[in-house]
Amino acid sequence: MSAPNKSYDPVEVSVLKPEAVEGAVSDALAAIAAAVSLEELKEARLAHAGDRSPLALANREIGALPPHAKADAGKRIGAARGAVNRALKERQEALEAERDARVLVEETVDVTLPWDRVQRGARHPLTTMADRMADVFVSMGFEVAEGPEIEAEWFNFDALNFPPDHPARAMQDTFFVESEDSGMVLRTHTSPVQIRALLSRELPVYVVAPGKTFRTDELDATHSPVFHQLEGLAVDEGLTMADLKGAIAAFVNGLFGDPLPVRLRPSFFPFTEPSAEVDMQCFVCHGESVGNPDRACRTCSSEGWIEIGGCGMVNPRVLRAAGVDPERYSGWAFGLGVERTLMFRHGVADMHDMVEGDVRFTLPFGMEI
Ligand code: FA5
Repeated sequence: MSAPNKSYDPVEVSVLKPEAVEGAVSDALAAIAAAVSLEELKEARLAHAGDRSPLALANREIGALPPHAKADAGKRIGAARGAVNRALKERQEALEAERDARVLVEETVDVTLPWDRVQRGARHPLTTMADRMADVFVSMGFEVAEGPEIEAEWFNFDALNFPPDHPARAMQDTFFVESEDSGMVLRTHTSPVQIRALLSRELPVYVVAPGKTFRTDELDATHSPVFHQLEGLAVDEGLTMADLKGAIAAFVNGLFGDPLPVRLRPSFFPFTEPSAEVDMQCFVCHGESVGNPDRACRTCSSEGWIEIGGCGMVNPRVLRAAGVDPERYSGWAFGLGVERTLMFRHGVADMHDMVEGDVRFTLPFGMEI
């Protein structure tokens, strides 16, 4: 600010001279008009209307003027600053409108563009079914156990009380791993996980083991050389066949949402004694198709019952092979076929559909994560 002056005419103060003020205004208006973006306008505002702009400096000079000159100078500077501020406001509004219009165009989403995304994969229905079956037992307090798909013959056969000459061990039934004397097979069932679970866990043991199994079966409508089973094993003090039947009935209820009757038919497995095949009442016809040609049922072939797997009380020899005292503990086990369960629960007529990998089969099962 200039030194106080009592006698100067404002037009004698250089920055207040009319031509200086007009020059500052026309510089400001030119800079404002030249700003083509909001950023450039911000710079113009700082330069021409900010605290250090020529007009702000001129405004400060007014204080040093003699009283009679202040009004005239104030009026001129006020008018000049007003003109600059109006121009700034107008340009700001114009640039904002331009920006909004541009953003609307640039951010437009064309919902009619063709689909170009890779489809998300879905879990195979067999995986979902195996999980669902295991989940029913997990809800009863069972743990999930695992074992290898390439298994030692000892776990797959010997520990399960298969005699050395048992026909299941024949090359016609079992895939052996080279060399011939490797002692390794592709497991033919999930029952070896029974032995692994007993050897690795404290008693009592309550486990289910879903997994892949292999047999030299030909692929046909109801068989596959690679299929899945769900093994179940309970070993505790005082377990009986009644507990086994109750657990299977609870499983059927959990999977089909219906307390359907379950029956056990005598059978034979080397690792259970006594052994049984598990049947559940047909969930479609509830047995009403039996002897009733008018109500023929495709799901159970009008037999009224559907076989869902094998089961029995764990053979004491198996308990002993796994280091469990059969005088104190007893156990039961079961093995259910996952493919077969998927077939009758969802009306799949042919097992080829499950293994051929055609998404037209899997898609209707939907995404289940
Ligand atoms: C067994 O494999 C016994 N380990 C089951 C068991 C476990 C019994 C524990 C007692 C105690 P099985 O060979 O019957 O049993 O097979 C069980 C189920 O596997 C069958 O009911 C069937 O659903 C399924 N299964 C067997 N072979 C095939 C195949 N080739 N393709 C598809 N599913 C099969």
